Amino acid sequence: MEERIQKLLAEVQAFNAQTKDALEAFRLKFISRKGAVTELFEELKKVSVEEKKRLGKVLNELKQSAEAKFSSLQENIDNNTSSSSDIDLTLPPVPNKVGNLHPLTLVKNRIIEIFERLGFNVADGPEIEDDWHNFSALNFPDNHPAREMQDTFFIEKNPDLLLRTHTSNVQIRLLEKQKPPVRAIMPGRVYRNEAISARAHCFFHQVEGLYVDKNVGFADLKQTLYHFAKEMYGKDVKIRFRPSFFPFTEPSAEIDITCLICKGKGCNVCKHSGWVEIAGSGMVHPNVLKNCGIDPEEYTGFAFGMGIERVTMLKYQVNDLRLYSENDIRFLKQFQTVI
Ligand code: PHE
Repeated sequence: MEERIQKLLAEVQAFNAQTKDALEAFRLKFISRKGAVTELFEELKKVSVEEKKRLGKVLNELKQSAEAKFSSLQENIDNNTSSSSDIDLTLPPVPNKVGNLHPLTLVKNRIIEIFERLGFNVADGPEIEDDWHNFSALNFPDNHPAREMQDTFFIEKNPDLLLRTHTSNVQIRLLEKQKPPVRAIMPGRVYRNEAISARAHCFFHQVEGLYVDKNVGFADLKQTLYHFAKEMYGKDVKIRFRPSFFPFTEPSAEIDITCLICKGKGCNVCKHSGWVEIAGSGMVHPNVLKNCGIDPEEYTGFAFGMGIERVTMLKYQVNDLRLYSENDIRFLKQFQTVI
């Protein structure tokens, strides 16, 4: 009997179970109620008292060692299976990828912020517009080239409707329903029938500015835009006004700022002049005020229209307009905040 016990003991020690099934086989063979250990205890009852003492001791050893083996094998198996199939709740979370705002939106928001501090409200108008608000009320003569199909997208079913070519239509919409003082900026998308290239697109964005009140002069326009340029690009930026023409302003001026790509030294973007145009501007034409029922003898005003793409290009040194509408995620994810 002792020999059998020793043999089983050796077997227990050598036993290795990787799976739950193998472990169950071990349990049945050694420690279950019908297993080898129980069986030997039964046999033990039949031997003499001295033998019982000696064999009982060895048999107890076998029992303990079988039980210890069982628990350690079980622990092993539990650990292994949990690491392969269970979720490890202690792992740090994988952060969700958050999107970011489009660079044009970031810059538009910044422009709004700067003008809101000067007391400008934000106004909005339609992108599908009629001839009156986009052209006629703005003092465009009947034969103005902007009214041609090559320049403007007209709506086929109704030739009086078109995709607005500038945000100046909102000037009219605002002045028709609100009497001076009016101080507003109007961001929005505009459309022109242009071939798409690095420098031109068939749609882009503008921010219109309008200030109509008693005694508004050209100096107010200059100071407002100078303030804007410094807020947007820093105090070293220079600004210049070039005489120009728009049907709806008199006098009119185009506004240039130092080219920030070459810092005024001359490059492709500024056509080697050191200056880049960012806006058209001028004093609101008396005819425009009259068209909106405002007396030009009593009120004057200034207006400007700024290209958001232009302002953004200079801010972020982007040199191709098409990037803004191609939705290439590699381009878009580079803009987290306005720098
Ligand atoms: N609407 C003009 C343009 O699109 C810009 C402008 C706005 C000029 C207001 C003067 C005053 O070019």
